[in-house]
Amino acid sequence: MGIIEKVDPQIAAAIDAEVARQAHTIELIASENHVSAPVLAALGTVLTDKYAEGSPGRRYYRGCDNIDTIERLCIDRAKALFGADHANVQPHSGTSANLAVYMAALKPGAKIMGMRLDHGGHLSHGMKINFSGMWYAVSHYGVDRQSERLEMDQVRQAVLAERPDMLIAGASAYPRTIDFAAFGRIAQEVGCLLLADVAHIAGLIVGGVHPHPMPYADFVTTTNHKTLRGPRGGIILCRKQFAKAVDQAVFPGMQGGPLPHVIAAKAIAFHEAMQPEFKWYAAAIVANAKALADALLAHGWRLVTGGTDNHMMLVDLRSRDPELTGDVASGWLAEAGIISNKNMIPFDPRTTKDTSGLRFGTPAVTTRGMRPDQMAQLAQWIDDILTSHGNQEMITKVAGAVEEFCREFPIPAQRG
Ligand SMILES: Cc1ncc(COP(=O)(O)O)c(C=O)c1O
Repeated sequence: MGIIEKVDPQIAAAIDAEVARQAHTIELIASENHVSAPVLAALGTVLTDKYAEGSPGRRYYRGCDNIDTIERLCIDRAKALFGADHANVQPHSGTSANLAVYMAALKPGAKIMGMRLDHGGHLSHGMKINFSGMWYAVSHYGVDRQSERLEMDQVRQAVLAERPDMLIAGASAYPRTIDFAAFGRIAQEVGCLLLADVAHIAGLIVGGVHPHPMPYADFVTTTNHKTLRGPRGGIILCRKQFAKAVDQAVFPGMQGGPLPHVIAAKAIAFHEAMQPEFKWYAAAIVANAKALADALLAHGWRLVTGGTDNHMMLVDLRSRDPELTGDVASGWLAEAGIISNKNMIPFDPRTTKDTSGLRFGTPAVTTRGMRPDQMAQLAQWIDDILTSHGNQEMITKVAGAVEEFCREFPIPAQRG
């Protein structure tokens, strides 16, 4: 950070501190990952200087030849990676990718239906105070109270009752496989569009360890920065017939200029995801999640749905401590260098501020090279801290062990 240090020591110090924080703590937030050094390098290039409104070959500014090359490569790779007819790689985030799909396919006031937010859905699938909940007529489906899973006959009944214009399949906090084929059949039965928002599981899909939505969905949106291990941002994939509407919804519909440095980084991440090693990585994420889940279960913690099929799990804290909230538990763990997030669990009597659940995910620890044996160690530390009720001595002891342990698993930015 030498060059930043000279002009802005305050920001340089904060960046250095963040590198150290990431290097010395264990990232169990299911939506986070560590990008490769090449992806990181692309983000810090002069590409950020360039305005490139429009699409490759059809820009509103001169001097876009190199940006055209980069965006074309990114589009081609996105299409090849996901087997899609069309890709738009300009959305600045997963939320804006969803906004663009709604704009492309629906009129304000149209009916959308997604998974309940408090059962694991996302804000942009119709939360009341999100644009999606304000501009569209929203209804939701949820998980079954007993199994805590999406039971597709119940989803079908809910969709038949509401007859939305667009059905949304996808979640932020659901530890099980999503049956895109069944969602496709339901959408076909009611004659509605299907959006598969695979933000969390995109890396698992392209890595071949989660079923693919592509044959069933009219639109697929994803973030790039979760299991896909790219830079922050979103993309949209769609059937050919929606290509023009999607491109227009992104620009000029809801964005001005794209972020060329981020598009270059996305292109590199897609290239990485096309390599055979990525399949191995995706399988390792799932194996680690299963190992962490099994170890937590063995310590007596209840997991929502009893386990995981993907990269994440939700711990029901009440199972070992009726008073313990996700807010307090995640705070204790963070003090010991284990980073997670509080999360609602289905039919949670608590609010989003405290919650009965903790969400853990394994994309980042898998990137650092941790394997199932290390997951058992993480579960032991988590159990030690939570069952000690955040005892300060225990936190200090685990924090020391975590810092030592992290030295064996450098983050990619440290490996250079
Ligand atoms: C299912 C789903 N969709 C969309 C998003 C939004 O992504 P972003 O935070 O980039 O707007 C997320 C992020 O957590 C998500 O989980």
